[in-house]
Amino acid sequence: MNEIESNKQAWSKLSEDHYRHYKKALMDGTHQLNHHIVEELGDISGKSVIHLQCNTGADTMLLAKKAGHVTGVDFVPENLYYAYRLAEDLACDNVDFIESDILSLSDIHHDKYDIVFTSEGVLGWLPDLDVWARTIRGLLKDTGFFYIFDSHPFFLAFDECKLDKQIYDIKYPYFGKCPDVDDCIGGYASETKKGVNTYFWMHTLSEIINALAGAGLYIEMFNEYTENFWDSGNMKFSEKSGMYEYDYNTDKYPMSFSLRAGIIPAK
Ligand SMILES: C[S@@+](CC[C@H](N)C(=O)[O-])C[C@H]1O[C@@H](n2cnc3c(N)ncnc32)[C@H](O)[C@@H]1O
Repeated sequence: MNEIESNKQAWSKLSEDHYRHYKKALMDGTHQLNHHIVEELGDISGKSVIHLQCNTGADTMLLAKKAGHVTGVDFVPENLYYAYRLAEDLACDNVDFIESDILSLSDIHHDKYDIVFTSEGVLGWLPDLDVWARTIRGLLKDTGFFYIFDSHPFFLAFDECKLDKQIYDIKYPYFGKCPDVDDCIGGYASETKKGVNTYFWMHTLSEIINALAGAGLYIEMFNEYTENFWDSGNMKFSEKSGMYEYDYNTDKYPMSFSLRAGIIPAK
């Protein structure tokens, strides 16, 4: 089995648990887009959005409350089955979903959108950012923009189990080319599932930016944050921001980043 197929099987083990977890959290209002995303996206009313790597659609539903229409894309069929169920549960009628590997989406889908959105745990699952960036360019209207919020690669290099003790041990080489292989998945909205093989690629900041620039996009905004969108070990959750924090890390290292990019106009 190749790496992408193996990742797909691993993610499918979480689909039902994620559906149940996020259905409850959306219904009681405890799951929200984090405050940086809300601020940086701005007013998206009436806009068409494509949400890449949408999982079981929890954030797709939140985006749909603000936008005109949202199309979620994920490569796990079970995720999309539950995403449609979630839409039904929440009476959300301005969403639809496409089953596809992001890196082959341009072979089967040619619609254009005002916004391409992706967030919180996405880049590492993709082995090729040049194809990813060209796919994003192909999905955008000339007036559209791309938005991403994800883990900062500098933070991803450290052994996350030691960061709460302020031990900065490089476990995953920042410039490493081979994927990190793990034998479990989940744990943030489900139990951790064992008996899988997952492959997670490190992408440096320069790779991310150069991939987008090479595809004809320019950076409108780039931010780095000391907060994390997941608890990487003994972090404190801030209700206000919807993010996890270490008290000691007000100025030491970035844990997440966001980037907004537009299309370079044709000459
Ligand atoms: C951490 S989740 C992202 C969840 C995201 N925060 C959300 O709910 O919008 C990562 C998602 O990427 C999807 N994924 C991983 N590799 C993919 C690929 N090559 N093509 C499409 N989806 C992929 C997985 O199925 C999973 O749903």
